[in-house]
Amino acid sequence: MSLPIETDVPLRGLNTFGVDATARRLVRVRSARDVRLVVDHPELGRAPKCVLGGGSNLLFTHDVDAVVVKVEIAGIRVLEDDAHSTLIEAGAGESWHGVVEWTLDQGYAGLENLARIPGTAGAAPVQNIGAYGLELSDRLESVDVVDFVTGRSATLPAAHCRLGYRDSVFKRELAGKSVITAIRLRLPKPWTPVTGYADVQRWLQRHNLNDPSPKAVFDAVCAIRQSKLPDPSTLGNAGSFFKNPVVNRTIRNEILEEHPDIVSYPLEDGTYKLAAAWMIAACGWKGQSLGRAGVHEQQPLVLVNRGGASGTDILALAKAVQDSVQQKFGLRLEPEPVIL
Ligand code: EPU
Repeated sequence: MSLPIETDVPLRGLNTFGVDATARRLVRVRSARDVRLVVDHPELGRAPKCVLGGGSNLLFTHDVDAVVVKVEIAGIRVLEDDAHSTLIEAGAGESWHGVVEWTLDQGYAGLENLARIPGTAGAAPVQNIGAYGLELSDRLESVDVVDFVTGRSATLPAAHCRLGYRDSVFKRELAGKSVITAIRLRLPKPWTPVTGYADVQRWLQRHNLNDPSPKAVFDAVCAIRQSKLPDPSTLGNAGSFFKNPVVNRTIRNEILEEHPDIVSYPLEDGTYKLAAAWMIAACGWKGQSLGRAGVHEQQPLVLVNRGGASGTDILALAKAVQDSVQQKFGLRLEPEPVIL
């Protein structure tokens, strides 16, 4: 059996920025076996590949010549459940938020801080998604991949995925070389709420939830995200466009001397995370636009498509923001999404 190859496919509806681009060839894969069919295909097999999940962490700046492999592998199931933990497996094409909701509905807690993050389960390890005090790396057990050259399947334990701050081996050595087909998540028991993040703490206090349930934490996270982050279905965006820079104590102190109000957080290893949102706002970019690309009002770390922006418009705004921040603070912000 062969896979239907779609040609000249518009990608506007397949990326949350909602920018125009065309895929010369696109194939939809619904299983690891489908991926092997792509690898063995006489025409597609050797061509460069571009893996597309929910399109929520990338920016198309031109048409795509590589074969777009759209991952639509479904299925969520419990593999193990004992006194110590629950092991969940999700197909890479499942929506991430769908996985979070499914686990909570089944009575398995532990992913609630990662509610409402756009994108697919398979994309989650690529940038090690994180929010409100929890990162995927805190829950990821293993990742199934299929190699684009050999067609072989392998299971990578989380420790081999080199998960870092919005970073992994899939953004580096394995970029374009393999496709994630499934992920496994281990949810530890007993469940303990992760409520250290100031926004979450404040929301729970305001609602008199001193001993919150998993659902209460889920509700808190959903409410906070809704109040701060634009919904991609109404305003195109890819979440945070920049990473928060991590600097050593000396650099942080130098910046602090000139900018005593800067928001920064000490990390365990003695370095500091600087709030990029604060720096962007300090440069006067909050709510501003360059053409049809804009800096979000509530969360300046998010760049938005105000309607009809192209990928290059958004990239031009990103560069202007990076230049301002560099001029004022001496640091170059690093983009978070994959730019194609
Ligand atoms: N801030 C300002 N001015 C503003 C907005 C925010 O100074 O106009 C300051 C806030 O005071 C706050 C700090 O910036 O102290 C950080 O803001 P926030 O807690 O909203 O989170 P963030 O650091 O901007 C990160 C992640 C988000 C994640 C949130 C919550 C990155 C690049 N982004 O944003 O992830 O949801 O924390 O944990 O690490 C994403 O990756 O796409 C994403 C949205």
